Amino acid sequence: MSERELRISKIQNGTVIDHVPGGEALNVLAVLEIDGTGGETVSIGINVESDALGRKDVVKVEDRELSQEEVDVISLIAPDATINIIRDFDVVDKKRLDRPEAVTGVLACPNHDCITAGDEPVETRFEVLDDGVRCVYCETIIREDITDHIVR
Ligand code: CTP
Ligand code: ZN
Repeated sequence: MSERELRISKIQNGTVIDHVPGGEALNVLAVLEIDGTGGETVSIGINVESDALGRKDVVKVEDRELSQEEVDVISLIAPDATINIIRDFDVVDKKRLDRPEAVTGVLACPNHDCITAGDEPVETRFEVLDDGVRCVYCETIIREDITDHIVR
């Protein structure tokens, strides 16, 4: 590892989301609902040098592990990311992301006539395509800026 990559300190306990595409770190934070007001300790590297990707982002969140739902959404914006669980400074688990087949309850359908947008609560569900996601109810496809559609 070159000295340049040592600019972000190692953490004692928490989660390191590594190999995020350059420029996507803030979207990862949005998925995790981290804006600083919750008091979490977070270090981010944006467009740091990486052998594999040229440039990558890294997000280190202390004292937190991620839910499967959060991991699924992160995989849509950072398909090659690795999720490293850190305990007492050691990497105790390293997961590469799988693109999920579907994401449930995370994204809002942009079609106002969709059954999921009505008064009766119907949980959203999107099938994951190679280049976007498709509402299983009305077939509306979201291709760009998927993180703008996160329900929260
Ligand atoms: N890391 C950290 N704090 C620790 C241990 C690791 O912040 N106490 C970070 C490293 O800086 C790296 C990631 O967690 O960004 C994964 O660590 P490690 O598996 O040691 O690095 P690599 O072998 O380079 O990982 P990979 O093979 O996934 O690139
Ligand atoms: Zn829909």
